[in-house]
Amino acid sequence: MSVIFSGIQPSGNLTLGNYLGALRNFTKVQDENECYYCVVNQHAITVPQDPKTLHERTRQLAAIYLAAGLDPEKAVLFVQSEVPEHVQLGWIMTTMSYVGELERMTQYKDKASKRGDSVPAGLLTYPPLMAADILLYQTNLVPVGDDQKQHLEITRDLAQRFNRVYGEDVFTIPEILLGQDGTRVMSLQEPTKKMSKSDDNQTATVYLLDTPKDIEKKIKRAQTDSDNAVRYDREAKPGISNLMDIFAALTDKSHEEIEKAYAGQGYGTFKKDVAEATISVLEPIQKRYAELIDTPELDVILTKGAEKAREKASKTYEAVTKAMGLYR
Ligand code: TYM
Repeated sequence: MSVIFSGIQPSGNLTLGNYLGALRNFTKVQDENECYYCVVNQHAITVPQDPKTLHERTRQLAAIYLAAGLDPEKAVLFVQSEVPEHVQLGWIMTTMSYVGELERMTQYKDKASKRGDSVPAGLLTYPPLMAADILLYQTNLVPVGDDQKQHLEITRDLAQRFNRVYGEDVFTIPEILLGQDGTRVMSLQEPTKKMSKSDDNQTATVYLLDTPKDIEKKIKRAQTDSDNAVRYDREAKPGISNLMDIFAALTDKSHEEIEKAYAGQGYGTFKKDVAEATISVLEPIQKRYAELIDTPELDVILTKGAEKAREKASKTYEAVTKAMGLYR
């Protein structure tokens, strides 16, 4: 049995990328492992958030976790700000980090470059807080999409650095758990760019709560090249390759099987089938979500989740403060 931890930011409406790259893998491992899944609202405030929207999205994200199949009897579901040890250890991990290594993070560079002279310091210190999330639970495996690889590497570096200085057995060194397909879903309009919650172009992104009609429209209008052959080639045919990745992730078919099945049929038929497969996976999630979002049961689950998470997190935090002499 492994300890598994992952988190999603309530910083926008969840996308098909979040589902295929992360969320669907969370439920696959919950039967045999000790799992912790978190709504990381303190990561979301590294850029300004509207208070009412942040609050709503926090609840919505918790409901989506459950609607996607997370079983609160098997996995612990909680909100980051309700377990204070996250920011407490986050600060300690910040003190273990070097400015240079934080400045080299590609997500930091991307986000900072869009903010001119007013780069929030929280964007820079985001990775040590993420390391704290993971290390508090003595996590073995972290299911995430491909874009989180670098954050996982720095988490491992910080854990190893801490253990070297303060004692070999304080932190378990975690490993990334990448899914097979769908680990990097790209924008439908700019297929060389990652599909993202925060993309201003709504047609570039399939949201988990999109209506079937919208899903169909977006996939139909997805950017593809003009040679009309369903063939996998990330470099030369990024648009169609992205749709093939999505289809492979949704149906468990290989790229070869897809190429064979759609040989000589053009993009129209294939896009129709990608839309259908997407709708058939998302519709049941949307139904369960609608049932859950306004129930008091959601609050009961989150309150219990925070208690269980805190039980484990406080043990690690105590060991950390002891190792560092951070007590009276
Ligand atoms: P976030 O909220 O951006 O995304 C949540 C998860 O979705 C994955 N993902 C994708 N996978 C495939 N294709 C895409 N286009 C795509 N977009 C997003 C992400 O890889 C992620 O697994 N830093 C994290 C949140 C976090 C965290 C943690 C994760 C904070 N603390 C501790 C794991 C463990 C983030 O911004 O994810």
